[in-house]
Order: sequence, then C-alpha cells, then structure tokens
Amino acid sequence: MVKYNVLDCRIIELDKHHSDRKGNLSVYENGKTLSFDVKRVYYLYDVPGGESRGAHAHKKLEQLIVAVSGSFRVTLDDGKEKKSFTLKRPYEALYVKPGIWRDLDDFSSGSVCLVLASREYEPEDYIRNYEEFIMYRMDI
Ligand code: TYD
Repeated sequence: MVKYNVLDCRIIELDKHHSDRKGNLSVYENGKTLSFDVKRVYYLYDVPGGESRGAHAHKKLEQLIVAVSGSFRVTLDDGKEKKSFTLKRPYEALYVKPGIWRDLDDFSSGSVCLVLASREYEPEDYIRNYEEFIMYRMDI
C-alpha cells in the first residue's frame, strides 16, 4: 500500500463555466478531472458555529472536499506533519488521499461542505482513534 503524506494532498481547480450575466457552474467528471471515479456524494450543512467534524482517517477512501457555500478549515495530518487549508471557493476542491487524518472546523454560518468520495460507505474503512491512526501509519 502506498503511504501518502499531507504534501500529496492538494487543492485542485474544478472546471468552471462562468458567465457574468447568468452565474457560475463547476463540474467534476469521472475519468477526466482526477483518476478516481465518484461512487458517493454527501454534504455537511447546518454545522453550528464552533463545532468540528471529521476527526478520522480512511484506509482506502479518496475524497474531494469542496466548500460549495461559505467557508471552513480542513486540517490534514499524516502522523508527522499537519497542513491546514481554508476552503472558500466553490470551484476549489481539496484532494485528500487515503491514510490521512482530517479535522474540519471554523465553519461559517450557512456553509455547505460537499464531499465526493471514491468508495461506498464502509464503516470498516474508518480509523476514529488517533493513537490507532499513529499505529496504522507506522504499519503501512
Ligand atoms: P461521520 O463520518 O462521523 O461524519 P463526520 O466525519 O463528517 O463528522 O458520519 C456521521 C454519521 O453519518 C454517522 O452515523 C455515519 C453516517 N454516514 C452514513 O450513513 N453514510 C455516509 O456516507 C457518511 C459519510 C456518514
């Protein structure tokens, strides 16, 4: 298994079709935008100010995280290094590789966090305990 670190995770720009008169549209297309196909879409909304989400890693899942409305911060952690990203533009997506711990916080009022995921929902793919995550990183 490939051991990714936070430097392998990056912001990508989605294709955007902007019109001064009629608003904007951004798109993710399987087989075109990135190498993974989207199998699942979910979104977080109505997150109360001061709340945080995430606090887990995935063993296999790849994700793209987008602030389709408002803004929030995503902090990625590979067990050695951390990197924070503030997402605030609907055409910017944070590509999160497998094996990376993520914390989401600083949600603005009315923000919506859209997640495009490479796999179906699999509870066994989650690592929710930070010590377990560190052990997992040492093993892979
Ligand atoms: P969780 O992954 O803990 O959310 P977050 O990391 O954003 O805080 O998921 C919250 C709840 O939603 C949990 O009970 C599992 C459920 N859930 C699904 O049923 N399907 C899904 O695709 C996701 C992402 C979560």
